[in-house]
Amino acid sequence: MRREPVPYTPVWLMRQAGRYLPEYRAMRARLGFLELCKTPDAAAEVTLQPVERLSVDAAILFADILLIVEPLGVGLEFEKGEGPVIHRPLRSERDIAALRPIDVDAAVPFVFETARRVARALAGRVPLIGFAGAPFTVASYLVEGGPSRDYLYTKRLMYEEPEAWHRLMELLAAATARYLNGQIAAGAAAVQLFDSWVGVLAPDDYRAFVQPHMRALIRTLTPGAPVIHFGTGTAALLPLMRAAGGDVIGLDWRVDLDTAWATLGHDVAVQGNLDPAVLLAGPPYIRQRVKDILDRAGGRPGHIFNLGHGVLPGTPVEHVKALVDIVHELSDRR
Ligand code: CP3
Repeated sequence: MRREPVPYTPVWLMRQAGRYLPEYRAMRARLGFLELCKTPDAAAEVTLQPVERLSVDAAILFADILLIVEPLGVGLEFEKGEGPVIHRPLRSERDIAALRPIDVDAAVPFVFETARRVARALAGRVPLIGFAGAPFTVASYLVEGGPSRDYLYTKRLMYEEPEAWHRLMELLAAATARYLNGQIAAGAAAVQLFDSWVGVLAPDDYRAFVQPHMRALIRTLTPGAPVIHFGTGTAALLPLMRAAGGDVIGLDWRVDLDTAWATLGHDVAVQGNLDPAVLLAGPPYIRQRVKDILDRAGGRPGHIFNLGHGVLPGTPVEHVKALVDIVHELSDRR
């Protein structure tokens, strides 16, 4: 993240803890998803499972980007196999005017406790990465009520009620900064902002409706813990994301890593960017694709290997393990 020389390219995977892992599914047979997030012992165990099983170079805190919105009283639920549902979405200026600032410390003490336990258990072996949803992506769930294809309620609010939109983004940016700083205080060595769905915006809309809030948020983060700024579908937004902030820019698989890095400038680190679907193919093919990405990174300092988005449920665990080993082997500089 600091673009220092490394003995091999470090690798971790978004969603490295999750449904593709049998030990995760065993835990989920006992605890619901929200319950699991709220039980620090169990969440810490799930955070550590992929570190043991895969030899990845970082742990990512087990939590969710939507945990901090529960106190808004929007009725957050994770339905079986469906992902998150917000039962009372925020659709109007009135809904947003009625919101109170989120008391993050009261809302998610369990996340900070999980981070403390994981940091203690890791004892410096590999770093712990904390994370949060970026305000746009979190707002999109709050306004749509769940996942969406076209983000029409979100865009309507942005265009028709810009003051309400900016108020919502300010509220989320402030809560997110507090959430990430709490994770850093609890032992996270770095943090990632997931702006997973920001790629639905045109560059001018990003500039007007998102960038100022990302800039304000990232400026408020505790110095010393590097920030990874990630989104998908962001080919046209990368320079704007970089200008908003972050020590590392996360790339999805829809861009060539070398071209994207040149666009961003080599004075910022990059993370990515294997298509998660490649892990459905076997190790010989995975090897070709890893080699291609490492060639494009060209041995420059500041490349963190990752997928372009999270591990897909149903991915064979042996393929995920093979990926990590292949990255370490092919990038060995010793
Ligand atoms: O291993 C890790 O990466 C850490 C844990 C993690 C989870 N969610 C656990 C989780 C992280 C980093 C997230 C982030 C997250 N959550 C994002 C951004 C990342 C991305 O995928 O773009 C988003 C958009 C969410 C919201 C969310 N939570 C969705 C859309 C879903 C359902 C779809 C899915 O992929 O399962 C969740 C549920 C969720 N969050 C699960 C896990 C392991 C699955 C819960 C289960 O069924 O056991």
